[in-house]
Amino acid sequence: MGLVHAVLAAGAALLVANLTLKAAARLRQRRMRGGSNGHIGSLKNKHVVITGGSSGIGLAIAMRCAAEGAFLTLISRTPSKLTAAAELITTTLGCPSHRVQTKIADTSDADAIISALKQSFEWMPIDVLICNAGLAKPGMIGEVEVKDLDLVTKTNFLGCVYPIHAVVPLMKQRSLENPSSIVIMSSLAGLIPVYGVNVYSATKYALKGLAEVLYLELLPWNIHVNLICPSFTKTDLLAEEYFGANATICGVGKTLYSYNQQSLDSADHVAKITLEGIKAGRFLTFTNRQGSTLGPLGRGFIPSDSFSTFFLELLLMIPYRFLNVLWLLHSKKVIMSSMNSNMN
Ligand SMILES: NC(=O)c1ccc[n+]([C@@H]2O[C@H](COP(=O)([O-])OP(=O)(O)OC[C@H]3O[C@@H](n4cnc5c(N)ncnc54)[C@H](OP(=O)(O)O)[C@@H]3O)[C@@H](O)[C@H]2O)c1
Repeated sequence: MGLVHAVLAAGAALLVANLTLKAAARLRQRRMRGGSNGHIGSLKNKHVVITGGSSGIGLAIAMRCAAEGAFLTLISRTPSKLTAAAELITTTLGCPSHRVQTKIADTSDADAIISALKQSFEWMPIDVLICNAGLAKPGMIGEVEVKDLDLVTKTNFLGCVYPIHAVVPLMKQRSLENPSSIVIMSSLAGLIPVYGVNVYSATKYALKGLAEVLYLELLPWNIHVNLICPSFTKTDLLAEEYFGANATICGVGKTLYSYNQQSLDSADHVAKITLEGIKAGRFLTFTNRQGSTLGPLGRGFIPSDSFSTFFLELLLMIPYRFLNVLWLLHSKKVIMSSMNSNMN
């Protein structure tokens, strides 16, 4: 009986704390904005900046933003890919070329990316910054090269921090009248550990931490934080590199993450769900059922987007902890048997 009371009391306290925090944030924002709804809403005539906008998920997001009438800045390292992306958007969608600009910059180079972002803001104030550039170098720890460890860490983590650092002070100057969004492209690999992409997975966990802190820091401003956690998506990056990596990683990955080449999400699907999340001002967005099922295992301090989500999570807290443990036991079995069969 004591345990039941303790669980109920803890649940009630969490509920009250969560609702109070959300109500206070909403009230503060409404006061500052004279009562308007603070979500981005329509993307028409908004300026959206996308790092890694030249291929995969970033390009798919750019195509959808252009179709909705947004102005676009695409940033990445390879000039030919950027030119091809801009051409695709203008020719396929008939988007006027003056609405799309490209900038060559490496997100892990602080000076280069900060300068590209400042120039983009001068072109037109930025309403939405999508920190999407990322890469993976699959391989077991101790076997991947140090230069690859550096590349993944700097691109995926600092490559997200630098653009946000450059843009937030500028956004603050106008966000009370113009709702803005900072979008962080993490991954399901940032909520559950993904075997064989150790540093990639760790950088995506770090982005979740960054998003949680920014949510608190930006509460007084009308700047929303959106954390996007796609599952395996059909692009050059993870799906093909990961499963082409080596037999052990591929075998373990396929079993642990129910990988099926046929059921990968398309980049366009991820883009569609991402934009819905941004426009609704949702903190956490999963892109498919696998994400919605597995994601809550690593929810931690992520704010609840609705009362119903919060209530569901509360009910699932204990079952999910059991699932954590069962999944780890299952993983141990899969990894050990893969190891044994490789040795035989
Ligand atoms: N595909 C998946 O299964 C999956 C799942 C979950 C999350 N994600 C995340 O989604 C994001 C996009 O990945 P994607 O699958 O669309 O991969 P992708 O097709 O390889 O696109 C990656 C983009 O990032 C750019 N980029 C890479 N490193 C960069 C750097 N240092 N500076 C500037 N731009 C850089 C690339 O262009 P350049 O190489 O020309 O610079 C390219 O435009 C990544 O953050 C990834 O972690 C992907």
